[in-house]
Amino acid sequence: MAGVLKKEGLALNKKRVLFVILIGLFLMGGAILVRVVILKPASTIQLAGIPPDEYDPAVWGRHYPREYQSYLKNKEMAPSPTGFGGSEKVQKSVQEPEILTNFKGMPFNVDYSEDRGHPYALDDLKNSKRINETTAGSCMTCKTPNLIDVFKEKGWGYAKTPLKDLLPKLTQPIACANCHDPATMNLRVINPAFIEAVNRRGIDLTKATREEMRGYVCGQCHVEYYFVPADKKVIFPWANGLKPDEMYTYYAQKPNAFEKDWQHPDSQALMLKAQHPDYETWSTGVHAKSGVSCPDCHMPFTREDGVKYTSHWVTSPMKNIKQSCRPCHTQSEDWLLDRVKTTQNNVWQLQRIAGQTIAKAHGVIGQAAQVKDSDKKKLDQSRELIRKAQWFWDIVAAENSMGFHNPSQVENTLGQSIDLAHQAITAANDAAHSNF
Ligand code: HEC
Ligand code: HEC
Ligand code: HEC
Ligand code: HEC
Repeated sequence: MAGVLKKEGLALNKKRVLFVILIGLFLMGGAILVRVVILKPASTIQLAGIPPDEYDPAVWGRHYPREYQSYLKNKEMAPSPTGFGGSEKVQKSVQEPEILTNFKGMPFNVDYSEDRGHPYALDDLKNSKRINETTAGSCMTCKTPNLIDVFKEKGWGYAKTPLKDLLPKLTQPIACANCHDPATMNLRVINPAFIEAVNRRGIDLTKATREEMRGYVCGQCHVEYYFVPADKKVIFPWANGLKPDEMYTYYAQKPNAFEKDWQHPDSQALMLKAQHPDYETWSTGVHAKSGVSCPDCHMPFTREDGVKYTSHWVTSPMKNIKQSCRPCHTQSEDWLLDRVKTTQNNVWQLQRIAGQTIAKAHGVIGQAAQVKDSDKKKLDQSRELIRKAQWFWDIVAAENSMGFHNPSQVENTLGQSIDLAHQAITAANDAAHSNF
């Protein structure tokens, strides 16, 4: 009897063990499912029925508290551990006085400060010393989701409407609606200039993959552009490609009668002002080519109470190397910081040399032009050379990563800039038989 009982007990125990194993497997499978399916961001977002004209992030935040809390961190102002970039509003000319010479005669000479967080975009626009009574409405394109209504109402007509007439309609700096469709929470692009620019390159945005959209949402603003002189329409100079020389040859064709941003008062050269080409610079670099896009570094996945979500604190990734770089790189945080700083220091050094050589060239051309009987054709050649030299310098200097987004291209561009600036000096001195 006892033996039988024991046997039954054993059988029972076996069943129990099997049961426990089965439960265990079920739970593990469940956990994997939860990780893969339920926690995978973007695929299972609860839709909240946010109306299409709701731009206040606090309202969106009621439904998406984690994303909203991290978005609020964009108001934090702190320097970056690299010593470059950072979120504090400092004038660039303090570190780089050659800016004052190179942008003489245009608004960036008066006010050119370091960028900071998205929630400041409207304040910084309103308070910029670069704007005045006559500033065009096109300046608000990259500052606010209210662009949606303004464009619906006026089409491209908003661009030439004076900014001061539009400001009362602008209630909200960059927020959720700039990047998300509230009906689906999918990523979207609202800037018509971006949509037209990619259409011209044969890209159909409605067919874009999620991965492409992750770059496009940033590319709608962090790019080079110009205003058409007649109607102030915003255009991205991408018809020939996104590299510095490709954009330069585009401008050389005087597109839409645009030939200059301003004329430099010393050299009399017709100059171009480059704007924050983060997207273009990144797009030809090693990270873009490896499928790593802006949010991978600037909006890393974060885990909180077992929930994985996208950090909406869009700032220097070096403030959080562990989340931003370490998912892909096995090196230590110190090593990664050191690599970034090494690139940036090298770029900074060349950027200063280029900027200073250009500043000198403006002066030399100005002096050479004063010399009686100087050769006008050669002087014009020197002006074309300085226009190009400064474009190659500025397209790097106006970019926000101090070279990190594409080190080898940036160093090549600065090398060309320095050479062109020296050529400009030589041509001017040839023109005047001088030695300034
Ligand atoms: C500058 C663009 C941008 C802004 C502004 C923005 N988001 Fe996002 N958001 C993203 C990106 C990029 C992702 C990742 C999407 C993906 O990988 O498919 C994302 C993902 C999300 C997700 C999906 C879940 C997750 O965390 O990955 C939610 C929900 C979300 N955002 C809510 C918000 C809310 C709420 C706001 C405003 C407080 C906001 N977003 C503002 C770009 C933005
Ligand atoms: C609607 C236009 C717009 C979009 C979309 C946009 N940005 Fe910005 N971004 C700006 C402007 C304008 C500033 C500067 C704000 C200021 O200084 O007042 C800025 C500032 C920044 C900064 C500096 C923040 C700091 O702490 O110094 C980073 C980093 C940044 N953006 C990255 C991104 C990334 C990554 C994306 C895409 C996920 C993106 N931005 C999408 C317009 C935009
Ligand atoms: C591989 C990671 C990586 C990718 C991808 C990336 N960035 Fe960056 N970004 C950086 C690093 C590193 C810096 C330098 C930060 C510093 O000096 O503190 C930076 C700097 C910036 C800054 C200046 C931040 C500041 O503190 O002022 C902006 C703006 C920016 N990136 C936008 C973008 C945009 C837009 C894209 C996509 C088109 C992009 N980045 C892609 C790593 C990346
Ligand atoms: C999503 C993956 C991913 C993320 C995130 C990422 N990287 Fe990379 N990184 C790569 C890949 C892929 C390469 C190409 C070379 C290779 O395969 O190692 C690369 C190359 C590099 C290189 C060598 C090439 C160069 O441009 O100098 C450096 C340095 C680097 N990454 C630094 C960083 C830093 C710093 C961060 C965080 C701000 C970062 N990466 C974030 C994937 C990533």
